[in-house]
Amino acid sequence: MRVLGIETSCDDTGIAIYDDRLGLMINLLHNQFDLHSKYGGIVPELAARSHMKKTVPLIERALMQSGCDVKSISAIAYTAGPGLMGSLLIGASISHALSFSWNIPIIPVNHMEGHLLSPMLEEKKIEFPFIALLVSGGHTQLIEAFKIGSYKLLGESLDDSVGDAFDKTAKLLGLSYPGGPSLSKMAKYGTPGRFKFPRPMIKSSDLNFSFSGLKTYTSNLINKQEKDFQTRADIAYEFESAVIDILVIKCKRALKKTGLNRIVVAGGVSANDSLREKIKLMAICCKSQVFYVRPELCTDNGAMIAYVGMLRFKERKPSKLNIFVSPNWLLSDLKSIK
Ligand code: KG4
Ligand code: ZN
Repeated sequence: MRVLGIETSCDDTGIAIYDDRLGLMINLLHNQFDLHSKYGGIVPELAARSHMKKTVPLIERALMQSGCDVKSISAIAYTAGPGLMGSLLIGASISHALSFSWNIPIIPVNHMEGHLLSPMLEEKKIEFPFIALLVSGGHTQLIEAFKIGSYKLLGESLDDSVGDAFDKTAKLLGLSYPGGPSLSKMAKYGTPGRFKFPRPMIKSSDLNFSFSGLKTYTSNLINKQEKDFQTRADIAYEFESAVIDILVIKCKRALKKTGLNRIVVAGGVSANDSLREKIKLMAICCKSQVFYVRPELCTDNGAMIAYVGMLRFKERKPSKLNIFVSPNWLLSDLKSIK
């Protein structure tokens, strides 16, 4: 079985082909950094227009470079939500058109389930149940995963997502978009201990997060300080450390509360090497296993969509004219696979 995965939920056009015997055959990405960087954030209308231009040529390139004949594709999996309505609709429309003309079934995939299961692209033996920390540009969630499609939300951010906090803080520090990787790079030059940052909600016994206060604190600090490189690097270091401490503390609490000893960390922010390292250390202390996917598959990609499409192949539908997208599709609304 061979699935073509199409990801267009936000600002990355991701196309991949996953084969149940051969694994990931190809994974191509067109990011829109240049398009949005001058605005310091994603402009939804521009994102949708770019998906419209790039998706079909990228599919053609994926088929050519992988040497796959169209006739060997068993189904098309596309991201149906959550995400930006315009961007989702482009991927969904192209997927439906192809499924109709190639006469193969179509599978709508939840983007967050894509992230959650992405470590299985490389590590097939992640046993359920486990805890998942999902950290992306739109979400910060702790999930208890019982089996594929059966997920319970344990806690989430009450305001900004952690990726958004990284991006906005990076912008205040004068760094390029997307801010997370640039801030993390700058933090490597920071001197620990020059500034003291708060760690919101670490004392509350629940598993929720809050990052907007930390963002305001950082903004006020930046306004009061000199703008030289070292000062900005010191602020970046302390901001990153505060965010990572909060995430690590809440993961540890989630493991303790549920009694589980496996944790998956996924989503764009899980590419952050300091976060990966600190969660690894925490997991060793808690006698737990931690699973990541390699950094380039942490951010949005077609591989995770093709993979989940393959797992959900049984739910495939013949292509119809009514297109399903759901910009706020919740993980807890998914059906589990029998
Ligand atoms: O999962 P993702 O690609 O898109 C969404 O589903 O939202 O996540 C994108 C987010 C952005 O906020 C980006 O700044 C952040 O992931 N990010 C990082 C790093 N790489 C990407 N944040 C911190 N450190 C990184 N190395
Ligand atoms: Zn994502």
